[in-house]
Amino acid sequence: MKLSQFFLPTLKEVPSDAQIASHRLMLRAGMIRQTSAGIYAWLPLGLRVLRRIEQIVREEQNRAGAIELLMPTIQSADLWRESGRYDDYGDEMLRITDRHQRDMLFGPTNEEMITDIFRHAVRSYRDLPRNLYHIQWKFRDEIRPRFGVMRGREFLMKDAYSFDLDAAGARRSYNRMFVAYLKSFARMGLKAIPMAADTGPIGGDLSHEFIILAETGESEVFCHADYLARDWAGDVDYEADLQPLIDGLTALYAATDEKHDAAKFAAEVPEDKRRSARGIEVGHIFYFGTKYSEPMGAVVAGPDGNDIAVEMGSYGIGVSRLVGAIIEASHDDNGIIWPASVAPFDLGLINLKPGDDTVDEQCALLYAQLQAAGRDVLYDDRDERAGAKFATMDLIGLPWQLIVGPKGVKAGTVELKNRATGERLELPPAAAIERLLA
Ligand SMILES: Nc1ncnc2c1ncn2[C@@H]1O[C@H](COP(=O)(O)OP(=O)(O)O)[C@@H](O)[C@H]1O
Ligand SMILES: [Mg+2]
Repeated sequence: MKLSQFFLPTLKEVPSDAQIASHRLMLRAGMIRQTSAGIYAWLPLGLRVLRRIEQIVREEQNRAGAIELLMPTIQSADLWRESGRYDDYGDEMLRITDRHQRDMLFGPTNEEMITDIFRHAVRSYRDLPRNLYHIQWKFRDEIRPRFGVMRGREFLMKDAYSFDLDAAGARRSYNRMFVAYLKSFARMGLKAIPMAADTGPIGGDLSHEFIILAETGESEVFCHADYLARDWAGDVDYEADLQPLIDGLTALYAATDEKHDAAKFAAEVPEDKRRSARGIEVGHIFYFGTKYSEPMGAVVAGPDGNDIAVEMGSYGIGVSRLVGAIIEASHDDNGIIWPASVAPFDLGLINLKPGDDTVDEQCALLYAQLQAAGRDVLYDDRDERAGAKFATMDLIGLPWQLIVGPKGVKAGTVELKNRATGERLELPPAAAIERLLA
């Protein structure tokens, strides 16, 4: 993509109403534009990142055996009356009336709708287990939308719902999602720590929030420092019994403030390992048994022919929140530093002297070669000062910058800069390409 033809409305001034780094940087880098309180348009650069995060989430959900579908944003109030949540949900629900005076709503979540789809389609225990998910916009009329996409009113969520015959099956489904979450966040370059979370009236131990530590996080959390050194990657056989793995992963203390037990924390964690910090919730998994299946009649015929209400769990990831969360975890004074896996482009190519034939030619050649090799290149071919070009590239945070100027072209070199380390290398164009394609 040539920057001269792209749509990248960057801001020079620091927006005064944005309180945290990710919000400021997303506005400055031309990733989003607020259209109403807590509602944002995703501009081309932001959309690219959103889509990449979404795709990582999708791939890991699929790998864990979840099946994608797509439910609508607008739902009928009657479904929510069946579960009893229509009145309970309160002011966070955006209620809508259609032309026939029917009560509708913009979905804040989809438990009712997926339970409805399931009960009409599945009759036998032989069709279990199943895990169905979608990646869809939600609306919650938050009292205090803030921090940009971190707490929006409209936001993109991946929500999965598991259906099992019994509690042991539900635990297996839960465990698969637990592992899929760790793998998803690790692929985005994040250290997300699974923390015991409130289970509400269901009780038990099957609720975890996945939390990234950040000063600007909204939740207060407590954990063993060794979680921060963990490497969550690695292959997992989803057909195997995951319980021993999960027991190992959750052996150290980690809890959100609702579940925090100060005495236990002090007893289990050596003083120098105790971390109390702010955290950003990027995902939440939850087992809730028959909370929806019972009132809504989502039953299957069991092996003995008797009806059994299915055991359910739900599993959310804040896809749009992650864009901000990744920036909170990875930026410096000059701008964003994207992990390669979610970067909007693989690299930026900077032409320091557009109009100079030799420089233009060298840039055109590099641009063509990198594109032919499947790299997504943002080519800054604009007629702008070098300083402005460097500042823009640093701000939007692409992992690499390939810099081409008249002096270098004469000497047969280009400059390759790593955005994260700041390291700059002068090398022949072919060597630069080789490095970028490695
Ligand atoms: N207002 C919001 N803006 C952006 N992301 C949100 C918002 N509310 C929830 N999310 C994301 O969706 C995920 C699942 O939502 P859920 O656990 O139901 O939300 P909550 O914890 O706010 O009740 C959360 O872990 C979070 O990452
Ligand atoms: Mg939550």
